[in-house]
Amino acid sequence: MPDNTTLPATIATQTVAALNLLRSAVSDYAPVVFANSLGAEDMVLTDLIWREQLPIEIFSLDTGRLPAETYALIATVEEHYGQRINLIFPRPEDVEACVTRYGINGFYDSIEARKACCHARKVEPLQRVLANKGAWVTGLRAAQSATRTSIAPIAPDDANGLIKVSPLADWTEAEVWAYIHAHHVPYNALHDQGYPSIGCAPCTRAIQPGEDIRAGRWWWENPQTKECGLHMVDGRLQRIVKEGTSS
Ligand code: ADX
Ligand code: SF4
Repeated sequence: MPDNTTLPATIATQTVAALNLLRSAVSDYAPVVFANSLGAEDMVLTDLIWREQLPIEIFSLDTGRLPAETYALIATVEEHYGQRINLIFPRPEDVEACVTRYGINGFYDSIEARKACCHARKVEPLQRVLANKGAWVTGLRAAQSATRTSIAPIAPDDANGLIKVSPLADWTEAEVWAYIHAHHVPYNALHDQGYPSIGCAPCTRAIQPGEDIRAGRWWWENPQTKECGLHMVDGRLQRIVKEGTSS
């Protein structure tokens, strides 16, 4: 976690803009759901949604391979806000088929095996949740990685047939942490152990000082392939410049 307890001047404006975007998504596209990975960005969004009591259902994809610290955070968050996160599980038969074909930790052996695991444990469950929804909210930020530089705050998600809203698209990592500290938002204990980005336990490790913030995710793969499929269209991250158009 960056040692930054000073609130950047931009944070109040950024917070108002994020809330306005969430509110307009609700009025234009309800039902709206929020995909919560329990990472730092998603804790900001959780706080905005539950503190402002926005009518947005919060769900997490429980892959079955999340770190113990993430499960602990789910319990802490539920107690803190007095609300339940809707946990979505993969279909057992999909996980069984993947494990039978590639092995329990087969994701280390090939990109094909890794993508099959991500598909069974994350992508299919996500598609199930998004069916019949009008918009989904994510914690994506443009500055997170080479694959995310063109993330827009609001864009059509053609692959899933709804609108995708990323209220923190323009936020810096420092702004995320400033918000968390200022509002005493609970966060994942792994962030204090060198993990700026957290996914499944076997596919996430701590980074060294100076490394890219996503260097610890699927660290054995090329940076250009490091997306699990939640945010991809035809093998590429969706690039949208304004609502109604895509590139
Ligand atoms: S990932 O695609 O590499 O796994 P990342 O961890 O950066 O994604 O998270 C980006 C956004 O994807 C999160 O802000 C969240 O909206 C969504 N997301 C990722 N993992 C999950 C999860 N397990 N459950 C729900 N949403 C998730
Ligand atoms: Fe499987 Fe790793 Fe993808 Fe999690 S991140 S679904 S364990 S390949």
